[in-house]
Amino acid sequence: MLCWRVTAQSAKYNAFNPGQTWLDTKGDTINAHGGNIVYYNKTYYWFGEKRNAHQSLGVNVYSSRDLYNWKPEGLALAHSEDTASDIARGGIMERPKVVYNKKTKKFVMWFHVEVRGKGYGAAKVGVAVSGRITGPYKFVNSFRPNGNMSRDMTVYVDDDGSAYEIYAARENYDMRIVQLTDDYLNVTTKDSLLFSAHREAPAVFKYNKKYYLITSACTGWAPNEAVLRVADSLYGEWKIIGDPMRGKDSKTTFGGQPAFILPLPHKENAFIYAGDKWNPKNLEDSRYQFLPVKLSDNDIHIDWYDTWRLDFYNKK
Ligand code: GAL
Repeated sequence: MLCWRVTAQSAKYNAFNPGQTWLDTKGDTINAHGGNIVYYNKTYYWFGEKRNAHQSLGVNVYSSRDLYNWKPEGLALAHSEDTASDIARGGIMERPKVVYNKKTKKFVMWFHVEVRGKGYGAAKVGVAVSGRITGPYKFVNSFRPNGNMSRDMTVYVDDDGSAYEIYAARENYDMRIVQLTDDYLNVTTKDSLLFSAHREAPAVFKYNKKYYLITSACTGWAPNEAVLRVADSLYGEWKIIGDPMRGKDSKTTFGGQPAFILPLPHKENAFIYAGDKWNPKNLEDSRYQFLPVKLSDNDIHIDWYDTWRLDFYNKK
């Protein structure tokens, strides 16, 4: 489906085309995997892993007014040229999540850190900060929260401004949560086990005063079945609802893995699920799967669409 028009410098989309190559306004493939979207000053900012075929190249950021057309804003966080740094070039930055701290007026980025030469053995989380949303972000620290391994992770800011890291610990067997400090630059000791189910790729949203968490199983880049859980509190108890995906290829999350869920700023109860369809032979060419979350009181699910538009949310 051709939903865009290529001009000299720009590609103009008026729909989401999940799983298709998605070009930025310069005509390059969008390179922002495993990340999140922040709405700020009437603009959306999309952060994600910058990759070449196999390596991590830092965190990219793009901006958009309409969620379809994305302008590249460059590298928000770069790898360090200091080989002693935990974020030295040659290491891995994954699943960056940027949140805005209303008290400090700073943008804070949390991300999974793997240290150069150590494969996936470091299992740390990293923190970086910037006064400008597009960065450059300054690396603050990386660590294991309260001594726990931290690989796939997300950050969630609740309505009262309190923020949390939800993270895969103990070789991904445990899903844990830890509250962040008020400045979002560190963790507190309010750190607790949510469940031990060997899950990863956590993505959280809040709907009708309940919290929802989608996770994947742990099969590396290969897709598997997603599970949706619900809780009255972020600290649990998290009850399994089941696989939220419906239709063809739903048993493998449509060939993808959860990255984040975006609540639309000006619409109530409107959420976009974003997944990554990883291409382990060429990570840069991993595709995006933006899909609407379908909500009703007793059923929450995600259908596949080859193409859809934001007016989906007006049709309910
Ligand atoms: C996945 C994880 C990705 C990445 C990958 C590496 O399980 O969700 O973020 O770490 O493994 O194989």
